[in-house]
Amino acid sequence: MNEEQGILAAAGPAAERLADLWWVHFWPGLAVFVAVVVLLLVGLYRRHHWPADQLHEARPALWIGVGGIVVPAVILLVVLVFTIRAMAQHSASARDAEERGLSIRVVGYQWWWAIEYDDPDPSRRARTANEINIPVGRPIRLVLESGDVNHSFWVPRLQGKLDLIPGQTNTLWLQANEPGVYRGQCAEYCGEQHAHMGLVVVAQQREAFDRWYEGQLAPAAEPTDSAARLGREVFMRAGCALCHAVRGTGAMASVGPDLTHLASRRTLGAGTIPNTRGYLGGWIANPQAIKPGNRMPAMPVDGPDLQTLLAYLETLR
Ligand code: CUA
Repeated sequence: MNEEQGILAAAGPAAERLADLWWVHFWPGLAVFVAVVVLLLVGLYRRHHWPADQLHEARPALWIGVGGIVVPAVILLVVLVFTIRAMAQHSASARDAEERGLSIRVVGYQWWWAIEYDDPDPSRRARTANEINIPVGRPIRLVLESGDVNHSFWVPRLQGKLDLIPGQTNTLWLQANEPGVYRGQCAEYCGEQHAHMGLVVVAQQREAFDRWYEGQLAPAAEPTDSAARLGREVFMRAGCALCHAVRGTGAMASVGPDLTHLASRRTLGAGTIPNTRGYLGGWIANPQAIKPGNRMPAMPVDGPDLQTLLAYLETLR
């Protein structure tokens, strides 16, 4: 996975505008800094080497007028023009996303992200967690809500950050230019595991996205081998179904992430660990050791049962 999260590595129109603005602020800032240092050195040199009767030639009124008023006014005006232009473009893009964007609801919880795709037909609303798949080149409208405390949605390579606030709905738009995996992060302190509230945006070509979407809509695959079948019984018996949903089975709870297609996701625990059999086993046996304070209790599943449970979870592609 590409872990880069820099705002200057922009990969979408919104982030490109922010990066451009960043440079518009950076270059005048650098120029002013260099000019001040040079003038300071010149001043120090003169103070020591010029005769006292020539110091009045420094013309302080001119320096204050130009350096203190005219130059700052010009710089601020240029920055203002670029900022207003970026804001206008941003508003236009937001309206465009409102009209023709794919709408995705993102709900922040301590400490993970619930993802639900909007569709007029409720049976076609795909649900997943901590991973947002999107088609490239199409505006995406994100409806941001919180299930508990303040969080902040931030995928630096695609868009600036926006808070998720309890009792309020915020909307954000983003778009990816190229296929790729863009890491994101909760950017508002939200408790003990704030740092482990990551997510990824996976941008794909339209056809690949459509295939992924149809796969996510499908109910869980029926296990074909005996270990996985036993594992499904363990899943129901051990209490997993009290918090999680696996569509197509009796598990329909929504306290924790929807696990219907768990095996198709890249990470576990909201970007905390890779989604491999070993990590998954460790997570089920002792999630508190990996992410202390999270809502998932250690499951009372012993060796052979854990193996069959893992065999079952691996079928949830
Ligand atoms: Cu959620 Cu910080």
